[in-house]
Amino acid sequence: MAQYIYFINYQDSEAELCALEMRALFNRPIENKAFFSELRIDESLSPYFKSRLEILHEATELEELIQMISYSDNKEDGFMVKYVPFIKPDPMEKKRREITKAVGYGFEGLPSFDTPKIIYGITFYEGKWYFGILAYNTMLWKKHMSKPNSYSSSLGLNTAKAILNVATRGDTSKKIIDPCCGVGTVLLEGHYSGYDITGCEINYKVAMKARANLKHYGYKGRVFQNDIKDMDKYYDAAVVDLPYGNFSKSEEVDMMDIIHHAARISKRQVLISSIDLTDKILEEGLVIVDRSVVYKNRSKRFARYIWVCEG
Ligand SMILES: C[S@@+](CC[C@H](N)C(=O)[O-])C[C@H]1O[C@@H](n2cnc3c(N)ncnc32)[C@H](O)[C@@H]1O
Repeated sequence: MAQYIYFINYQDSEAELCALEMRALFNRPIENKAFFSELRIDESLSPYFKSRLEILHEATELEELIQMISYSDNKEDGFMVKYVPFIKPDPMEKKRREITKAVGYGFEGLPSFDTPKIIYGITFYEGKWYFGILAYNTMLWKKHMSKPNSYSSSLGLNTAKAILNVATRGDTSKKIIDPCCGVGTVLLEGHYSGYDITGCEINYKVAMKARANLKHYGYKGRVFQNDIKDMDKYYDAAVVDLPYGNFSKSEEVDMMDIIHHAARISKRQVLISSIDLTDKILEEGLVIVDRSVVYKNRSKRFARYIWVCEG
């Protein structure tokens, strides 16, 4: 029995990354921008979640649903009701005001439209009405956009957040290493979501910048100033944003060395690169369990390849 409805959204350039993240979180392909699930996942965990409806009542007739609501304990003031379109175009969208008004009359308490204490959602899909508690993605993590230290090649916030969830399947108790952490874009998202995440960065100045970024937001995580080959602890997952360069033979050797050590120190790896390394990854003996691509902008000119590996 589905207990939740998730509403998601993404830009075209991130569609494949969103699909990868949803497969990792829900363990199945997600084809639509609204879908049912039994899993309860924090509504702010994925950058692609818009909101989550926790279903309290469902009925084939709206009147029946309103009756169910009026029978339940709803004397509290300060609620708000919103209609959330399930599909586009949504057959009920034009009537959304009448619907939310009618549902609001099912409550004994007084509504609040400016500062609601609780938001209820109602939606209609395939002949059925669904009503429940609506939780919006707070998007508060977007504060990391103005981190003090940035890289021109830093990952975007959505990508950083999504690959963390891919690496851990959304399990925030997992221990993660970002062994090429740069200025710490992934570390910031990891700390914000409550992951146990450690950084490692070979370049002293860059490692200092990552530390300063963490400090700026009050996060307490560690950043080792190290070569990945000197890391000796074992982690549940590694998120590896491989160095970019002019793709010379020697740089390719360095990349393969990093991949080799990432697999040595972690059970599951999410590898990101601006060149297609599929054959090399397989040669290294890693098992690719999923893969995707994300584009830097709408023109889809600059791609980053993503592999999820185990082994
Ligand atoms: C693509 S950047 C990472 C950017 C980072 N994700 C961000 O958004 O800021 C790759 C980083 O790996 C570091 N690096 C290269 N070789 C390394 C190695 N052997 N061990 C650890 N870090 C390494 C580089 O100094 C560089 O900062």
